[in-house]
Amino acid sequence: MPRIYLSPPDLGDREPELVLEAIESNWITTLGPQVDAFERELAEVAGVPHAVALSSGTAALHLALVVLGIGDGDEVACSDLTFAASANAIAYTGATPFFVDCDETWTIDPELLDRAIAERRAAGASVHAVVAVDLYGQCCDYDALRVVCDRHEVVLVQDAAESLGATYRDAPAGGQGALAAFSFNGNKIITTSGGGMLVSRDRDLVEHARKLSTQAREPVAHYEHLEIGFNYRMSNILAALGRAQLETLDERVAARRRLRDRYRALLDGTPGISFMPEAGYGRGNAWLTCIVVDPALFGVDREAIRLALEAEDIEARPLWKPMHLQPVFASHATFGGKVSAGLFGRGLCLPSGSALTEEQQDRVVAAVLASRSAQVPG
Ligand SMILES: Cc1ncc(COP(=O)(O)O)c(C=O)c1O
Repeated sequence: MPRIYLSPPDLGDREPELVLEAIESNWITTLGPQVDAFERELAEVAGVPHAVALSSGTAALHLALVVLGIGDGDEVACSDLTFAASANAIAYTGATPFFVDCDETWTIDPELLDRAIAERRAAGASVHAVVAVDLYGQCCDYDALRVVCDRHEVVLVQDAAESLGATYRDAPAGGQGALAAFSFNGNKIITTSGGGMLVSRDRDLVEHARKLSTQAREPVAHYEHLEIGFNYRMSNILAALGRAQLETLDERVAARRRLRDRYRALLDGTPGISFMPEAGYGRGNAWLTCIVVDPALFGVDREAIRLALEAEDIEARPLWKPMHLQPVFASHATFGGKVSAGLFGRGLCLPSGSALTEEQQDRVVAAVLASRSAQVPG
C-alpha cells in the first residue's frame, strides 16, 4: 500500500495547462502575466486590494517587517506556538523576537500580549510590531488583538501562511493585519512548489515590498540602487501553478473540513483523544487535523501513536515545537509557555491532504486505535 503523507500536493488538470501556457508564452522568469494575474486573484480571495507574489512565505514575512521599518535594536512580539519561519523572519531584520503563549484557540493570547508588550517596554525595549500566527488554518482573535495593538501603538503583521481560505468574522483571512503573509510551500492548502504572497490594504507598503523583492532596483534604465534589496520574486511558471490551484480553493477547504469532521466522528468517544477547538469567531480551513492525546486515558502517548502510524507507512507529525523551547531562541523573553509546551507534548497532526480518500483515512484511524495494543509488553 502506498505511503500516506501528512499534506501532499493535490494537482489537477489545470496545473499542466497553465504551466504550459506560461512556458509557451516564453514568460518563465520573475515577471509576466501569470504573476500579475495570480496577484490579482489572490488579493481578491484574501479580500485586500494589493498583493506581491514572492519566493516564499518567509520572504513575505521578512519584507513585511522591513517595509514597516523594523530593524536592529527593535523587539517584535511573536506567537510562541508556530513554525520557526515566523521568528526567523524577525531575526533576519536584526530585531529580536520575544514569545507570547497561546490561549484555548491555540493562537496568541491577546491579554498576555498586552502584558508582554507593557513589560518589554518597561524594561526599555523598543517594540513596534507583533507577528500573530493563524495556526493550522485558524485565525487569531483579531478584534481583541487590534485593541491591544492600538493601545500600545504597535503594528500587527498577520502570519497567514496556514490560513488561506479561512475566515475571521465572515471576512477572508488576510485582511486582518496591516500586512499578511501567505505560504504556498509543498504542504500548504494550495502550493506553487515554493512561494508566498504579501498582501495589504496599504498600496505603498506593498509597492515598497515589490521593489525590495527585485534587489531594490530604481525605475531607471541602468542598475541604480538606493537601498538594500533581496531576490525574492516568484517566477511566472510557479504563478501559473498557483493560479490553477487557487481555482479550487473552496473545494480544498471543504475537503479538509470534511476530513476533520470525519476524523472527529470516527474517533468520537475514544477516551483521551480530543481535537483542536474551532474558535467561534471564524471558520478555519482545517489545513491539518490536530488531535491532543491524554496518555492516562488513551493508554499510550502521542509519540507511541506517531511511531505506530509510521510503522504502517503513515506520516503524522507532532504539533509545532514552541519557539521558547527551541535552543536557538532559548535566551529570548517568553510570556507564558505552559499552554504551548503542553500542546507540543500531547498534540499530533494527522494526514489531512485534500486528496486523502476515505479508505486511506480509515487506515489512519485504525492505526491510531491499534497503537494502544501495540504498546502492550510482549
Ligand atoms: C506559520 C508559518 N509561517 C511561515 C511559514 C513559512 O512559509 P514558507 O515555507 O513558504 O517560507 C510557514 C510554512 O512553512 C508556516 O507554517
